[in-house]
Amino acid sequence: MSARSLYLPHLAEIARVEEETPDTRTYFLEANGVEWRRAYHPGQFVELSVFGVGEAPFCLAQSPTRSDFIELTVRRTGAVTNRLHTYRAGDVVGLRGPFGNAFPFERARGRNLLFVGGGIGLPPLRSLINYVLDHRTDYRDVTVLYGARTPADRVYKNELAEWSRSPALTLVETVDRGDDTWTGHVGVVTRLLKGMTVDAAATLAFTCGPPVMLTFVVAELIALGIAPSNVVTTLERYMKCGVGKCGHCCVGHHYICVDGPVYNYDQIRRLPEAP
Ligand SMILES: Cc1cc2nc3c(=O)[nH]c(=O)nc-3n(C[C@H](O)[C@H](O)[C@H](O)COP(=O)(O)OP(=O)(O)OC[C@H]3O[C@@H](n4cnc5c(N)ncnc54)[C@H](O)[C@@H]3O)c2cc1C
Ligand code: FES
Repeated sequence: MSARSLYLPHLAEIARVEEETPDTRTYFLEANGVEWRRAYHPGQFVELSVFGVGEAPFCLAQSPTRSDFIELTVRRTGAVTNRLHTYRAGDVVGLRGPFGNAFPFERARGRNLLFVGGGIGLPPLRSLINYVLDHRTDYRDVTVLYGARTPADRVYKNELAEWSRSPALTLVETVDRGDDTWTGHVGVVTRLLKGMTVDAAATLAFTCGPPVMLTFVVAELIALGIAPSNVVTTLERYMKCGVGKCGHCCVGHHYICVDGPVYNYDQIRRLPEAP
């Protein structure tokens, strides 16, 4: 019996594409031929091939408890993502994975969970949030703070509306710049944390977003009394193989693609190179 090569992608047809923001789309990939389609964990990622252009890593954006598809939410930034944004239902991409470690959802059991997302940082958190909602009795209070540049830059607008009506969690949103339609908070997401009361010892915080946001959010979370080891994020490094072979993602002796991308801030402080 021959093992499948780590470098050989599964072929996956795009079933549906959803426009999230002017530069971000969610791709629903047919996963019938992908044996791990429900056997992954929130926080893991895949390498997606756009044939003839290249491969890039994307987090699995939906909880394995939810989707009949593999969902990836992709912002247009360069060669692979620009070409992907020309793809429609019926086009075929390659998928390798799932790779990397996962959010510590077992350690999260019995605790209050505080999620802080910024912009395109919501997709990895959404995978865990929906996982938690599907195992709701295992966790205590669930709070989601989400910030985007403008109302149009919010991803998963329908899901945010559902979460805002749900008694299972508390969602607070903010935008840097409002418009005529926006009745919510205006200002950066860190403002929502200032003065918040949390049971610090019982809280596990998860945050993903642009590096500048993370710096301020982590400082606020620690100021609230949450231990650095209870502040969890994902690190983005330039990746190629995704499986600890090529060395592109190395930070000291760490292979971010295998040992990460999920780290807590106690671990991050010990990495040779700060994020
Ligand atoms: C674990 C992980 C999960 C991710 N999940 C998502 C996700 O869910 N959604 C999403 O939209 N993005 C995600 N990303 C980011 C995404 O993989 C990158 O934006 C990817 O580079 C896009 O590929 P591209 O060919 O379109 O752009 P590229 O051509 O790679 O360019 C994108 C950016 O990377 C820079 N860059 C290019 N080459 C290098 C290099 N050698 N070293 C450093 N920087 C370089 C470019 O200057 C540009 O700013 C994730 C990244 C990681 C590591
Ligand atoms: S991406 Fe190749 S070693 Fe991590």
